[in-house]
Amino acid sequence: MKLVLLGPPGAGKGTQAVKIAEKYQIPHISTGDIFRKNVKEGTPLGVEAKKYMDKGALVPDELVVALVNDRLAQEDCRGGFLLDGFPRTVFQAEELDKFLKGEGKALTAVVDLRVDEDELLERMIGRRVCRSCGAPYHVKNMPPKKEGVCDHCGGEVYQRADDTEETVKNRFLVYKEQTMPLVAYYEKAGCLLPIEGTGGPERVFGAIVEALGQ
Ligand code: AP5
Repeated sequence: MKLVLLGPPGAGKGTQAVKIAEKYQIPHISTGDIFRKNVKEGTPLGVEAKKYMDKGALVPDELVVALVNDRLAQEDCRGGFLLDGFPRTVFQAEELDKFLKGEGKALTAVVDLRVDEDELLERMIGRRVCRSCGAPYHVKNMPPKKEGVCDHCGGEVYQRADDTEETVKNRFLVYKEQTMPLVAYYEKAGCLLPIEGTGGPERVFGAIVEALGQ
């Protein structure tokens, strides 16, 4: 399976990616996670990416494309992969097509998660994440048992720098302008699977598996 997970910020891409990667035994490649790891480690890539991420803007295409091409060339991606948060611009999608064509491959499907903006805002402003293991929480719907402490590993539960109301609104704008054109792009390519992204993670996962048909 060669899959892309598409959808606005907070649509549940990360949540579903973990389940999909486990079911189909494919590597989960999240460009957002790769950038956050580099920011945490203070690498040159992280320092550069942070300038854009903190504003809710996209990291420049050339940085992202090189990084993803390197990752897709690794051995564990031979049998398939799940891209989460990439591509995010038409340029990135075209570069991905070129890369896959060069390897004699094509995408199996693009799963497009759809959720209303009001629900997305509520999800993201309340979202908290464990700094160590990445476990997701929500201040109202899924708080950790002890405030600020991860139930799973005892790590610090924090709010992502780009989950403030102002930044989230900018991320929505960026999504509409730069990423939404990919819906038409993949519809035309005949591989788009629109999925209703509400009703709880298990319901959404069931709908994805059914749509993939295997
Ligand atoms: P990235 O990390 O990819 O952020 P995003 O796309 O904005 O998505 P999120 O991680 O915010 O949300 P998600 O869809 O994964 O939802 P989640 O599962 O967490 O990118 C961050 C930044 O990196 C970008 O802004 C950009 O600067 C840069 N970047 C990354 N990729 C790039 C690229 N290709 N090009 C350029 N720049 C790039 O769920 C959200 C919340 O909802 C959680 O609290 C969760 O518990 C809850 N939830 C999930 N599913 C459900 C459900 N079904 N019902 C109820 N609640 C749910």
